[in-house]
Amino acid sequence: MNQCISIFYITVIVFVTEYTKALENGLVRTPPMGWLSWERFRCNTDCKNDPDNCISERLFQVMADLLITEGYAAAGYEYVNVDDCWLEKHRSPNGQLIADRSRFPSGMRALSDYIHSKGLKFGIYEDYGNYTCAGYPGIIGHQYEDARLFADWKVDYVKLDGCYAFPHEMEKGYSEFQDILNKTGRPMVFSCSWPVYQIYAGIRPNYTSIKENCNLWRNYDDVQDSWVSVESIIDYYGNNQDLIAPNSGPGHWNDPDMLIVGNFGLSYDQAKTQFAIWSILAAPLLMSVDLRTIRPEFKEILLNRKIIAVDQDPLGIQGRRIYKHRGIEIWSRPINPIVGTFYSYAIAFVNRRADGTPSDISVTLKELGLISLNGYVVEDLYENVDYGILYPSTKIKVKVNPSGVVMLKAEVYVDAKYPNSYKYVFSL
Ligand SMILES: *[C@@H]1O[C@H](CO)[C@@H](O)[C@H](O)[C@H]1NC(C)=O
Ligand SMILES: *[C@@H]1O[C@H](CO)[C@@H](O)[C@H](O)[C@H]1NC(C)=O
Ligand SMILES: *[C@@H]1O[C@H](CO)[C@@H](O)[C@H](O)[C@H]1NC(C)=O
Repeated sequence: MNQCISIFYITVIVFVTEYTKALENGLVRTPPMGWLSWERFRCNTDCKNDPDNCISERLFQVMADLLITEGYAAAGYEYVNVDDCWLEKHRSPNGQLIADRSRFPSGMRALSDYIHSKGLKFGIYEDYGNYTCAGYPGIIGHQYEDARLFADWKVDYVKLDGCYAFPHEMEKGYSEFQDILNKTGRPMVFSCSWPVYQIYAGIRPNYTSIKENCNLWRNYDDVQDSWVSVESIIDYYGNNQDLIAPNSGPGHWNDPDMLIVGNFGLSYDQAKTQFAIWSILAAPLLMSVDLRTIRPEFKEILLNRKIIAVDQDPLGIQGRRIYKHRGIEIWSRPINPIVGTFYSYAIAFVNRRADGTPSDISVTLKELGLISLNGYVVEDLYENVDYGILYPSTKIKVKVNPSGVVMLKAEVYVDAKYPNSYKYVFSL
């Protein structure tokens, strides 16, 4: 069977961002990057038998240390985020939240100070409802005290889940909590789970309101440690991109959930695909992996500066799936620099086929919507391949592994790096 797939009919779409009002607390002008405990460490509270892996102050201190010593912080990963299961099962007699006394014996302010002493930022988890998803006390009825406490603890990032709450009350409730956070005077990133709970309940989320109140928000299922899970997320963001993508921009991001790169469920190629697509989606890059034991080839993916730069592109335009046929997908994201009316692009070629042999994809730059006659400086972001300067009519051919990706950057030609380039322009 012929593995060479020629692309003939890509829908070149116009990337629109809606210039409506958005939350302006000055935070996360590019998507947040950091480490979050949930996907990998879950609600392991058994510090007696599993002291190295239970949810405890020690786990977060160790991960903070490794963010620094292993070079993650230098690459941009700065938030150390606690997820569910950090609390005592009951509030104090005067109604205050208390961190679990045996697992967080120094208390949350001390953990926060430790993380800040490393130059990192501290994130915490709570829930809008009566309980967190794992059954610890939620914030409802205590919003003012809890926001005050987070500010006193010098929290930088609050993830507010939506278990044990009524989805039809979330638009009002999350907006009120945003306002309460704001009134503490401490800038705190606000991560919302409101859209996903409403979607599950059959309510169409009001993204205008979500953008005004949240710095990031979950639209879809929790990521699990499998390729099936990552594929379902990729499909959700592709299939619903017209509704979702325009809401993204500096300070307000769609969150397809954590990176599971380096865990048990993804092959090397699949891990590269997750990282590439997340960067196309302008997604928060929140690793949930054991940084003590991650294998070097997975670490290298997470530290790929060129792909991180795509994710962190200052324009903040979420990319889209521009082609999907017979298991081949092309995803594209407009990025800096812009020359005249021409954008540069990051492009991910994804092979969703299970053929067992790589697929060749060939396409001209014009078919990808790259039409500047000055050309584009094209490079591969995973492999060390520099294509040099290419023109709209140039056909490029990439070989993509099963469940893998080839990721390119096409930078609109802007400088004199290729002094002879004009002679090619005129020979088109
Ligand atoms: C939360 O608790 C209150 C008071 O007990 C109750 O009225 C409400 O129905 C509960 N909410 C949910 C979502 O169960
Ligand atoms: C509170 O909201 C105002 C108005 O949007 C904003 O300028 C300010 O930075 C916010 N403050 C905090 C602490 O989030
Ligand atoms: C959505 O939220 C915006 C901003 O809060 C509001 O003006 C608008 O009326 C809401 N739309 C609906 C359908 O509720």
